[in-house]
Amino acid sequence: MAVGIFDSGLGGLTVLAAAQKRLPDVDFLYLGDSANAPYGVRDADDVYNLTTRAVERLWDAGCDLVILACNTASAAALRRMQEGGLPKGKRVLGVFVPLIEALTERQWGDNSPPREVAVKHVALFATPATVASRAFQRELAFRAIGVDVEAQACGGVVDAIEEGDMILAEALVRSHVDALRRKMPHPQAAILGCTHYPLMQEAFQDALGRDVQVFSQGTLVADSLADYLERHPDMLGRGEGGYLTTGDASRVSDRATQFLRRQITFAAA
Ligand code: DGL
Repeated sequence: MAVGIFDSGLGGLTVLAAAQKRLPDVDFLYLGDSANAPYGVRDADDVYNLTTRAVERLWDAGCDLVILACNTASAAALRRMQEGGLPKGKRVLGVFVPLIEALTERQWGDNSPPREVAVKHVALFATPATVASRAFQRELAFRAIGVDVEAQACGGVVDAIEEGDMILAEALVRSHVDALRRKMPHPQAAILGCTHYPLMQEAFQDALGRDVQVFSQGTLVADSLADYLERHPDMLGRGEGGYLTTGDASRVSDRATQFLRRQITFAAA
């Protein structure tokens, strides 16, 4: 029995690690589309087509539930996939909503009308495609009023992380935080709206300062998944857990092992 977790590359491992910790008895089948990463510089149709293909691969492997542990895919493909109709018994969930529910202090699945919330100035760091989609602002507007969001498209960060060049990634994070601060000098909260960015969480926190609350998706998505599986135990799926990549399995395994600090072995998808 396995739940599918998908990302364009390695970033979804930050969600996977939190989900494995929160749900130690659940098996997960991870798929990283490293051959086609980064998604964040692609257009919406391209992201939709790549995401659909990857999700179908996970369905074929026996997963009934697939988590898009990728904001870019969640922004560009999730709604379109759901509106297009999913095969019977299959579900796809994204990573935006749990984060926005936490930011707006809501219980999981609270669909009451939008209301004023404590946080008023929010910095959003995400890929160019996620920023262009405005999906985050749309989901936020369903739940909160009066929140000023300044978005910063963080070009280059995903590529640097995928290449394992953490020095470049850190330099880019600092320059993107500087650029954000020129537009919004005093954010109260910062959203890491790309699942790769928690791998650079310290760099974001350092550059932003300790008084800015940094939200990332790992534990939030893991908690909402636990809540979902409690309500839908039939969505645990069939098949086995493991790690699949469309890229070079040995290279991807090395990077994943470095990031998660335990042996991770990918196989060809
Ligand atoms: N981890 C993906 C996200 O959350 C990165 C997208 C990309 O490949 O650019 O958006």
